[in-house]
Amino acid sequence: MCGIIGIIGKSDVSARLMAGLSRLEYRGYDSAGVAVMDVGRITIKRAVGKLDALRDELGTDPVWGNMGLGHTRWATHGPANQVNAHPHQVGSVTLVHNGIIENYTELKVELAERGINFLSQTDTAVVAHYLNHLLGQFDTLDEAFRALLDKIVGSYALAVMFEGYPELMFVARNGPPLAIGYGRYDLDGRAEMFVGSDALSMHELTDRVSYLEDGDWAIIRPEYVEVRDRSGAVVEREIVTTKVGNMAIDKGPFPHFMLKEIHDQPDSLGRLLSSLFDSQSGSIRLLENFNFNDFDRVVLVACGTAHYACHVAKYWFEAHAGLQAEIELASEYRYRKRAPGKKDCLIVVSQSGETADTLAALKDARGKVAARIALVNVSTSSIAREADAFFDIEAGTEIGVASTKAFTAQLLALLALSLKAGRDRDAVDEDFLVARTREMIGLPSLVMDLLALEGEIAFQAEQFSKARHAIVLGRGVLYPIALEIALKIKEISYIHAEGYAAGELKHGPIALVDEDIPVLVLDSNDDMKEKTASNAAEVEARGSKVFHIGPEAAQGIGTPAVPLLLNPFVPAVVGQLWAYYAAIALGRNVDQPRNLAKSVTVE
Ligand code: M6R
Repeated sequence: MCGIIGIIGKSDVSARLMAGLSRLEYRGYDSAGVAVMDVGRITIKRAVGKLDALRDELGTDPVWGNMGLGHTRWATHGPANQVNAHPHQVGSVTLVHNGIIENYTELKVELAERGINFLSQTDTAVVAHYLNHLLGQFDTLDEAFRALLDKIVGSYALAVMFEGYPELMFVARNGPPLAIGYGRYDLDGRAEMFVGSDALSMHELTDRVSYLEDGDWAIIRPEYVEVRDRSGAVVEREIVTTKVGNMAIDKGPFPHFMLKEIHDQPDSLGRLLSSLFDSQSGSIRLLENFNFNDFDRVVLVACGTAHYACHVAKYWFEAHAGLQAEIELASEYRYRKRAPGKKDCLIVVSQSGETADTLAALKDARGKVAARIALVNVSTSSIAREADAFFDIEAGTEIGVASTKAFTAQLLALLALSLKAGRDRDAVDEDFLVARTREMIGLPSLVMDLLALEGEIAFQAEQFSKARHAIVLGRGVLYPIALEIALKIKEISYIHAEGYAAGELKHGPIALVDEDIPVLVLDSNDDMKEKTASNAAEVEARGSKVFHIGPEAAQGIGTPAVPLLLNPFVPAVVGQLWAYYAAIALGRNVDQPRNLAKSVTVE
């Protein structure tokens, strides 16, 4: 989704804005722009496509100035072209926006009746026009900005500069995240100040940030920041030191972030294991303030890959804790008229912690459920701050749009949580827990063994990539993994892949099967093994090329034998590499696939 970076600096900001935009690239975008102010005058450069296009533009026609805004746009209203790219300038107003202004048509009609014409189709351009119109109605910039916020309806992170005001920026947040970064103070008590969609965008500028809450707006000057809430009252927002500074955000020796992140997994899972278990006693220690005996059921809510992690966890909560578990897509849960759930424990799962639907579902459940727990990969995120309690899965910064190391970390954290629920409810005994803990501790080395299969996976995925459509089959805990692998294949290779519960095949999908549709079969090592094998035989008999992923598979990827508990992790990791190499064979942009955003901050 769109990304924002802004700098009130003491020296030229253009190179630093471009560096900030590079750090926002992972979010997904289709055009970009910068606006730079020099002695009160603003110059704007915008370009369609990747940042290199904007770099070329700035190379031939550079801009200089000590204050500026940068933006990466993920098109919502109007196609990705130069006119629709941000920043938008109208009169003395220059602004960038992330989000969707829901009443922009109404505002546009009002302005059109006043004779205003619009070149851009975006909702953002309407906001710029409206603010410019309000400047004529109020004596001060503050009053006009406040009136704008009273008028617009929808979601926004906004950053605004006004021509003629070289050290002043206005920002506002309602929905999409926006952080203020604090630079070092000089002897005159003035600091460079920054704004950004996340702490990562301000990496190398500062590690001291504060996060605006929904409804907040702020006036930023080099010597002070004044934050006001929706009611207009001045409020303090805590300045925190971010961990981003310590995190590697480069690809290392890998050609893509996705491949690096797949290879990060032995480390990320090892790190998570050490925070999940007490090193002395070996007992599980997460979310200790909650006792699952207090709940009638858990409701697991998320989007995309995080939703599939929840789907696996449904099996675990029911098996380990005898606790009813429901899974919900956040985009459905948030709007549905739901049955009362006063003894529900809501568990939301989100890598970014900013997914608009998941955040809205969490907010909607406030006061309606017994507890709202979040599993996130960003401890300063909106979801972490909204939840009653959160657990940080500590996978480390994930840049590739395809979620990989966050997925396995979500699985591991949910697995531990299901065991804790079993312990709280006396559904499992100490011996069971000790045995399962031992198995979980073997996970990093299992993942290393799976990564050693990379060459073979790359070879077979290249054959597979010739197909236009594919099916992935699994049973039990491997059914949601089949859904996840199909999603991975779709999003980065653009091969149309569908995941099915193997037992559902005969109820329709088998009609699709022929020699042009390869089928990936996730073999289990449990009592479902023979049933899945029969389903594989049925598709093979209809001419389909079958690739197995599982223990000692003769045709496909033979994987090491693992304890039942770790079953889902095996095809999950192999499937990540499979999707990656299929996409590479097709020459796709794996880190930033078309149309996708890493952080989906609008619904
Ligand atoms: O940040 P979140 O975990 O809330 O994101 C949810 C989905 O948008 C995300 O998992 C998406 O499906 C990924 N692109 C999958 O690889």
